[in-house]
Amino acid sequence: MPERKFSNKHIISMRDLSREDMIYLLDIAEGIHDGSIKPDMAGKIAALLFFEPSTRTCFSFESAMKRLGGETLLMKGTGSTSVQKGESFADTLKTIERYSDIIVIRTAVEGAARFASEIIGLPVVNAGDGANQHPTQALLDLYSIRKTQGTLENLKIGLVGDLRFGRTVHSLSQALAGFNPEFYFISPSHLVMPEHIKSGLRSLGVNFTELQSVEEVVSELDIMYVTRIQKERFADPEEYEKLKGSYVINLETIRNAKENMKILHPLPRVDEIAEEVDASPHAYYFEQAENGVYTRQAILSILTGGISK
Ligand code: CP
Repeated sequence: MPERKFSNKHIISMRDLSREDMIYLLDIAEGIHDGSIKPDMAGKIAALLFFEPSTRTCFSFESAMKRLGGETLLMKGTGSTSVQKGESFADTLKTIERYSDIIVIRTAVEGAARFASEIIGLPVVNAGDGANQHPTQALLDLYSIRKTQGTLENLKIGLVGDLRFGRTVHSLSQALAGFNPEFYFISPSHLVMPEHIKSGLRSLGVNFTELQSVEEVVSELDIMYVTRIQKERFADPEEYEKLKGSYVINLETIRNAKENMKILHPLPRVDEIAEEVDASPHAYYFEQAENGVYTRQAILSILTGGISK
């Protein structure tokens, strides 16, 4: 068992987690994956409150809890809850906290998970808040990067696609900042990385280059992290229509890639990675989705005391 080094009650933003927190969590996830660590979650209940749609995050949290012997309360949308009768977000949380040991929450509202952590007594996990943060995705991304590259240090990482609204790339760039990355931010000009993320990276001395073409740097990359254009975040549907399909990764795009370059994608995919890439040794996105179970098992176990200290 790794020496305990995790200083957070909640997981809300990658900015809250130290390098030691991240490495400890990844080590626990690895131990769960290889069977050397067996958390005991019997009798514990995770409330999974998904105000926004989800496949991977929701079901991998559910799978994680159940495979550890715990149970879940699952809300997918508010359709069958008293939110429909006008119950507030705060009252909903103050009620659910009495039925569970940890709350996992996804909403379209930036800051909602932080607010939840401030008004209830249970650990809160942010499963995505609008275009802001998706820290559990960043942790499974770190797990996937370390597993495929053998290290998190000194890697060349291309973040491709919707860097403006993509919460996964915001969280991942912050997560990797302490590991001396060389970032390439590759996006259409309307979808560049927000200034507040870039200024945070600059203040930490992190190098990044902004460009519009993957081909310019593909031969340099250790990881190509591709994202979907986040249709649901556009205020103007016409702007989305203009940008959709503006980049597609296919076998030709990655012809000059390093042998061990891996393509990650948080999924879901629309058309930004051609299906022909799936059979390539560079494709790692479905393994990445599987790694979400081990990482979320570690998160649930650490935050609820399901592993011995
Ligand atoms: N990666 C991710 O968050 O996927 P879902 O939206 O399906 O949960």
